[in-house]
Amino acid sequence: MGIGAATESFPTGVELLIGADEIQHRVRELGSVISERYANQTIVTIAVLNGAVVFLSDLVRHITVPMEIDFLAVSSYGCGTRSSGEVRVLKDIETDLLGRHVIIVEDIVDTGRTLDVIHRMLLDRKPASLATCVLLDKPARREVHVHIDHTAFTIPDRFVVGYGLDSAGYYRNLPYIGVVKS
Ligand code: IMP
Ligand code: MG
Repeated sequence: MGIGAATESFPTGVELLIGADEIQHRVRELGSVISERYANQTIVTIAVLNGAVVFLSDLVRHITVPMEIDFLAVSSYGCGTRSSGEVRVLKDIETDLLGRHVIIVEDIVDTGRTLDVIHRMLLDRKPASLATCVLLDKPARREVHVHIDHTAFTIPDRFVVGYGLDSAGYYRNLPYIGVVKS
């Protein structure tokens, strides 16, 4: 079995949007951009659980400045594929952000509400700088303006899965990003 085999076999009902090789190429580019931007500094990356873990784990391997990793878990009230905008912190980070250069790593920005709440919450902790790095930007559905410093891909208004993103908890393990056919 070749290394690309997983990319070629799609679970029933999933259509390819962004292939595994394209993702890896772009994540490597983002890692270089971040490494240059923070040259001679140390950084703290904060991944938003669970969706951003796959992206973070690939991204950090292309970051060459000294760095720490921490995790934040939030849940949006509401159900289905739409976030209600009420964000509750389920697990806080353990790192003191005072005076640190911080990057929030998120899987996708949809309405923008989740990232907006997280950004404001972490800004209160007085980091030296606070940037956002997202795998996917879905601008068509934005309700709240959030500043995104680094975006891997901008996508159309489709519900996507894979590379960390889920539908009812499944598909996070896919090495590519796909669209669930309705
Ligand atoms: P926002 O608060 O509406 O920006 O939603 C952000 C969160 O909703 C993300 O962190 C995801 O967990 C989830 N989400 C939004 N769009 C999708 C999607 O297309 N696939 C999977 N999860 C999504
Ligand atoms: Mg998420």
